[in-house]
Formats: sequence, C-alpha cells, structure tokens
Amino acid sequence: MTSEQPRDPIAVPAAGLILLVGVSGSGKSTFARQHFGGTEVISSDFCRGLVANDENDQSATKDAFDVLGYIVATRLRRGLLTVVDATNVQPYARSSLVSLAKEHDVLVDAIVLDVPEHVAIERNERRPDRTFGSRVVSRQRRDLKRSLGRTKKEGFRRIHVLRGTEEIDAAQIVRERPWNDRRDLSGPFDIIGDVHGCVSELRTLLTTLGWHIQVKDGAAVGASHPDGRQAVFVGDLVDRGPDTPGVLRLVMGMVASGLRCA
Ligand code: UTP
Ligand code: MG
Repeated sequence: MTSEQPRDPIAVPAAGLILLVGVSGSGKSTFARQHFGGTEVISSDFCRGLVANDENDQSATKDAFDVLGYIVATRLRRGLLTVVDATNVQPYARSSLVSLAKEHDVLVDAIVLDVPEHVAIERNERRPDRTFGSRVVSRQRRDLKRSLGRTKKEGFRRIHVLRGTEEIDAAQIVRERPWNDRRDLSGPFDIIGDVHGCVSELRTLLTTLGWHIQVKDGAAVGASHPDGRQAVFVGDLVDRGPDTPGVLRLVMGMVASGLRCA
C-alpha cells in the first residue's frame, strides 16, 4: 500500500468495493454508519454473529470471512457498492478482497482510519464487547504502519488515509461513476469492427444501417440515426486503408454530436 494525501471529499467508486482499514477502536463501524447505507456495509463482526451467534467468537473467524466473501462477491456481481468493515490491517486480509474486486471487474479503494493508539485503546476500554486489552490494538497498529509503508499498491485504485480524529470527523464521501460504467446507454447498438481507414465502406455501412451522414465540402463529418441508434466502434479506425483522416473526421464528428459512439 502507498499512502495518499487525504481528499476532501473522498471520491469512491459508485459501484465498486471499499475496504475500511484501521485498528479496533479506530471508528470503522461508526464511520461506515455515518457515510454508507446499512446494507452496503458488511462487517466481519456481523458475519461472525451469523455463523456463531456471537460477534466476538474468534473461533468462528474463518467461517465468518467465508460468509463475508460470499456476500461481497454476490453484491459485486450484482453491481452494488460494497464496504467491508473489518480491521484489514494485514496484507493477506486485503489481498483476498482485492482479488474479489478484480474477479468482478470493479474498482477497489481503501479508506484508512489512522487514529493515535491511545485513542483506540481508551475507546475500547469503554466497550463491554471488547475485552482483549491494549496489546491487540498495539499489534494491529504495527501491522497498519507496515501496510502504510509499503510501496506497492496491492491493486487498490486509491488509498485514502484519514489521519487523526479531526480529519475523520470532517471527511465527506462522494460516489464517482467509473468511466467505463455506461449502463445509462440502452441502445439499440450498431457494433462496428475494424475500419482501417476505409471511409467509403464505413459510409456505405452506416447508410445501409439507416444512419444519416452529414457531409461538408464532400467529406463526411458526422452521422446521426433517426431512431437514436448508438454506434460502438470496437476495432481499429486507422492504418492500412486509403483515408484514415476521413475515418477519424467522421467518427470524431459522431462522438462530438452526442456520444453516439463508444
Ligand atoms: P467503532 O466501533 O466504530 O470502532 O468505535 P471499530 O473500528 O469498528 O472497532 P472494531 O474493529 O469493530 O473493534 C469504537 C468505539 O469508539 C466510539 C464508538 O461509539 C465505539 O464505542 N467512537 C467511535 C467515538 O467515541 N468517537 C468516534 O468518532 C468514533
Ligand atoms: Mg467495528
């Protein structure tokens, strides 16, 4: 992991995975409640409760993380923003979740809550459900520091580090639609392969598909479809053929006139 200057507001992927990272008592569950919907947050405690009737039963940790992984994978497959509320201070805990995000082709961010050790310990001393003492927090904090010092990114898109309680309290979250999320486009689509500079053939194809070509000084400079069809160019536009500039002029004109192609 590499650390990054905190952003205000923090931009997270609208349909991706977010890992909260911090020692016990750093305020992960509180932060999750403040910034995300109830069902968007999956906590290791909740999953321990599901499989053991006891959120603190450490013997249930492996089963709990199996359930957590299943829920996360299912939500990501269904295109839902998912926040994992677990300490995530150890590399192996993060790597399996990052892999899940990759398997589902979604972006993954980390939000690190980095509070002074004494703050976390004092908070936990006031909690009836955290009886493990300060040594556990100290160990988690060592793991966290080691994580922040790493130079490799572990596959995260962004790592947002919030240092201290003030920065955590002031944080705001905005959801950012990934550039490749075009679920707003509903088609119908005309999917066009390699063009390779063959502007004449492209014009013939578009005309056959019902597109109206806009012509200026004899050159095709754009096209629109009366039924609102959308063109998706999935192959090479340039190279080999007789008129690469002509192809680019036409396709760029189509893009400029209302994102009718991708
Ligand atoms: P959390 O329960 O949010 O911490 O807060 P956590 O990181 O999720 O801890 P683990 O990993 O599950 O153990 C811990 C305590 O600190 C208080 C909360 O009310 C809770 O009792 N707290 C949290 C504050 O007093 N102020 C805060 O800003 C955040
Ligand atoms: Mg918690």
